[in-house]
Amino acid sequence: MAFRQKHLLGIEPLHPDEITTVLDVAERYVDLNRQADKHSDALKGLTQINMFFENSTRTQSSFELAGKRLGADVMNMAMQASSIKKGETLIDTALTLNAMHPDLLVVRHPHSGAVDLLAQKVNCAVLNAGDGKHEHPTQALLDALTIRRAKGRLHRLNIAICGDIAHSRVARSNLMLLGKMENRVRLVGPPTLVPQQFREFGCEIYDDMAEGLKDVDVVMMLRLQKERMDGGFIPSEREYFYRYGLDADKLAHAKPDAIVMHPGPMNRGVEIDGTIADDINRSVIQEQVEMGVAVRMAAMDLLARNLKASREEANGVMV
Ligand code: NCD
Repeated sequence: MAFRQKHLLGIEPLHPDEITTVLDVAERYVDLNRQADKHSDALKGLTQINMFFENSTRTQSSFELAGKRLGADVMNMAMQASSIKKGETLIDTALTLNAMHPDLLVVRHPHSGAVDLLAQKVNCAVLNAGDGKHEHPTQALLDALTIRRAKGRLHRLNIAICGDIAHSRVARSNLMLLGKMENRVRLVGPPTLVPQQFREFGCEIYDDMAEGLKDVDVVMMLRLQKERMDGGFIPSEREYFYRYGLDADKLAHAKPDAIVMHPGPMNRGVEIDGTIADDINRSVIQEQVEMGVAVRMAAMDLLARNLKASREEANGVMV
């Protein structure tokens, strides 16, 4: 199995063969999740703690379900937004956690880099469930699995990521993953939300939807991250929808079989028209949620294997 990581903190450190391994293992969990008995013993006896310092519906429930289906003892720690302090508080949290002997720690945090810091202080595998504007690796992996299943491949595709790129960890992780797998990625949005430094990822930038969506295979819409904005990034939501919201007219510029994606939660009528989001012939948004559980099962399964191997090695047991 090609997956050598101790933690899943981002897409950046992953090699393309490790990405493929996660997706291949996830395929098996897609099948398992469609059966009446959805249980496996991959995490039996292990403890998974979910710490979400930022609100989440689908990511947290997806990780919880993934852990339970794999037989882990899963605990959700209630992290109040008001308990977020910097530096030492996080380290103190890590020490408290260590005393509980978790094996897998799933962390979402509003500050970029906070999850990496925590990973250095605990003795278990850490999964980043989204840190600030930095990375959201399991989202990019579930998007990749969704694309691979819909298009039959994950290379040489033209993919447009549209909207609020500046504040989006989903965009950053996807850019890195799709680039590593040799796809052509375009970023489409108003200049206030698509910083020019994103060119360093080797992508093209458009501020016009008709041009940006021309002949693409995949249209990935992003939520306008109002909670991360502190100024006038857009004139009004109405105007934003008019210029950048995905509707049938704009989608007509993409390939006729282009798929539409959105990580959720959606602002209908802001970045996406409700009828497009619900169009089962174009939208794979529900499939993304299904793939999310399978990808998180795969990621935790692979990390647990490495964790067990390293512990056995430390105990002098042959593996
Ligand atoms: C994303 C996130 O939290 O970064 N959502 C998610 O994980 N389902 C995207 C978003 O909040 O817009």
